[in-house]
Amino acid sequence: MTDLPTLPSEQDAPTIPMIGAGMQRVESVLKVTGQARYAYEMDAASLGAQADPLVGVMVLSTIARGRITSIDSATARNMPGVRLVLTCDNAPPQAPWGPLVARDRFARAQPVLRGPDVHYYGEPVALVVADSLERARAAAMAVNVQYEAASHAVLLDPATATEPEFLNGFKPAHTDHGDFDTALARSAIRVEAVYETPHQNHAQMEPHATTALWQGDRLVLHTSAQNLVSIQMGIAATLQISPHRVQVISPYVGGGFGGKLPYFADAILAALAARALGKPVKVGMTRTQMFSATTHRTATRQALCIGADRTGRLCAISHDALSHCASFDNFVEDTTTITRGLYRADAIRTTAHLNHLDLPRSDSMRSPGDAVGMIGLECAMDELAHELGIDPVELRLLNDTPTDLTAHKPFSSRHLRQCLEEGARRFEWGARNPQPGQVREGEWLIGMGMACAMRYNLLKPCQALAHLDAGANLTVQLAMTDPGTGTQTILTQIAAGVMGLPPAQVHVQMGDTAYPPAPGSGGSFGAESAGSAVLRACENLRTRLLEAGLRDEHSPLHGQAMESAHLDAGSLHAGGRHESLVAFMERTFPQGAQAHGEITADPDSLKWSQASFGAHFTEVAVNAITGETRVRRMLGVFACGRILNSRTARSQLLGGMIWGVSNALHEENMPDPRTGQFIAHDLANYHIATHADMPEMEVVMIAEDEPVSNPLHIKGLGEVGICGAPAAIGNAIFNATGIRARRFPITPDRLLPHLPEMTI
Ligand code: MOS
Repeated sequence: MTDLPTLPSEQDAPTIPMIGAGMQRVESVLKVTGQARYAYEMDAASLGAQADPLVGVMVLSTIARGRITSIDSATARNMPGVRLVLTCDNAPPQAPWGPLVARDRFARAQPVLRGPDVHYYGEPVALVVADSLERARAAAMAVNVQYEAASHAVLLDPATATEPEFLNGFKPAHTDHGDFDTALARSAIRVEAVYETPHQNHAQMEPHATTALWQGDRLVLHTSAQNLVSIQMGIAATLQISPHRVQVISPYVGGGFGGKLPYFADAILAALAARALGKPVKVGMTRTQMFSATTHRTATRQALCIGADRTGRLCAISHDALSHCASFDNFVEDTTTITRGLYRADAIRTTAHLNHLDLPRSDSMRSPGDAVGMIGLECAMDELAHELGIDPVELRLLNDTPTDLTAHKPFSSRHLRQCLEEGARRFEWGARNPQPGQVREGEWLIGMGMACAMRYNLLKPCQALAHLDAGANLTVQLAMTDPGTGTQTILTQIAAGVMGLPPAQVHVQMGDTAYPPAPGSGGSFGAESAGSAVLRACENLRTRLLEAGLRDEHSPLHGQAMESAHLDAGSLHAGGRHESLVAFMERTFPQGAQAHGEITADPDSLKWSQASFGAHFTEVAVNAITGETRVRRMLGVFACGRILNSRTARSQLLGGMIWGVSNALHEENMPDPRTGQFIAHDLANYHIATHADMPEMEVVMIAEDEPVSNPLHIKGLGEVGICGAPAAIGNAIFNATGIRARRFPITPDRLLPHLPEMTI
């Protein structure tokens, strides 16, 4: 931890007008008026084709493991309007699945209909293409698939788990800081608990869908994706063609949450069918198909052990997490990541175990790893606070650390203490009765709970192009996506701010691999990666224009010093003089001017640990008769560096907190051990929090500067809002009832047997 460069001072941060304000989403009118066109809505006119696309409907397997013994598609092929039935008997050749060791798993080859083997219930086994959705659906039901089923395993089983080497993101699966056994032996108080979290599904509003067309040997895919460049590589690899021959277009995405980082059978099947038929083909998933033919969040089983001395100083923390992945995959949920760095302790040990199950692929879902891992950690911390008789906020403050112990690095910015103190003050935490089960209002038991939030920060390489035309209209292009987060809006703000233009003169074009490569939206890295690339492109363009202006004998700025030169209000300024951009551009750059910008993480910045922090406070009422939990109040206080847009930032954090309520009380899927099918496969049975479930909620973003991570001085905030939120509710339920529910979600049936007898 010696030998670190000095942290830049806050004054070194760029001042960009437009940033911070809660500008409305630039695409909101297009969305609410139905003009934003999604992948499944492509028609003849929007494709420049002679006819509307043909429609493909997938047939899914009805066993969890085994072999297809026969597929009879003759009936389907002869039904009205049917153009093609693809099965493993006639699917075109594709690359084999993988490779498993790929650095970028979203760029892997994913062949479909790859043979007679079935790997999970709901795996695509056929595609029927017809001239209408209705005809394709009818024919899909007439495809007769016979199977020879083999025994399957779909439940977590510690006894058969293996020890993986890496977690998601190539983090080591096992970490050790300090001497765990010695430190634990020194602990006066010890808490050991096992927490369980369920399978979850992303349930995006927009189902997965792809419209494919071939222009000669070039494939154009309109799809719904978070990450265009990786899937361009993956689709090209699958089809065994050059990535330059694959264009992926996804300007509007109706929710991603990690479930649209990978691509799925809709994309490959649409591409194969369109090539076979020589016509555009679209394939969309039904809501039910999305529950099996995409990815989901793994269930976890987490064993926590925390030891402390009597004053509340942590001696030892261990966190062992069991998760699962598909039988043919190697994804490992990074459940223990936050445990490695959130608190100061003499020793911190994390380990991982993995089951390969006959289920669909487990993969990223909002705040992968941390959303579930912080349930175990932060509930166990609450158990420890109770055992010690120390206030849970106080326990966190006591074990705050400026250093990420497992990583052996200081944090670049960490205002967890301020989040805790500000949150406790605003929530009137001091009014909480620390004795559980003491506060009653009629048949309702009232309790308060809290938990910390943390999510590591990540910047990914990104490029952008900025072009100013002679009329001073700025176009910015990059292959970024906006899955509803507000990315297009913040990029507009950055570009407008740097170029001194009103936002109406700025057009950020995204969602197309024809534009400079971007990492897409995921892992909370979108804003800083794409934002920094746009910042650089616009700064480079600004420098180019100002230098030309100062050199230009016809410009009133001629000969002025570069130090005083800037763009503002549609004009170039220097030395007290100015000229409108329009006049300047028409004279100097009648064809327009452009510049490229690029960002990669500064190696020096990686000498620090970078993370966003926060603190959740909740108040719940648990009905002593029915076991129903109502969240009454919820407050999240966050420190995420500078804020680009207070409105969209608040929405992201709020969305995470709402999902936290959903995780704590509602969301759960489980495979039926008999069939291997996920029991909930529609939104009637897969319960997500609705408006009526949501309490009064408040989001506070404290002022913070992030000095090293990126030139915008921001940190990711898309995912930190969910981290810890379910734990805060679980802890409030304990305070209300005295019941420590360690299996999530905490549904009424899990509380009822333990609720105290009550007379009303
Ligand atoms: Mo996020 S779960 O990495 O889209």
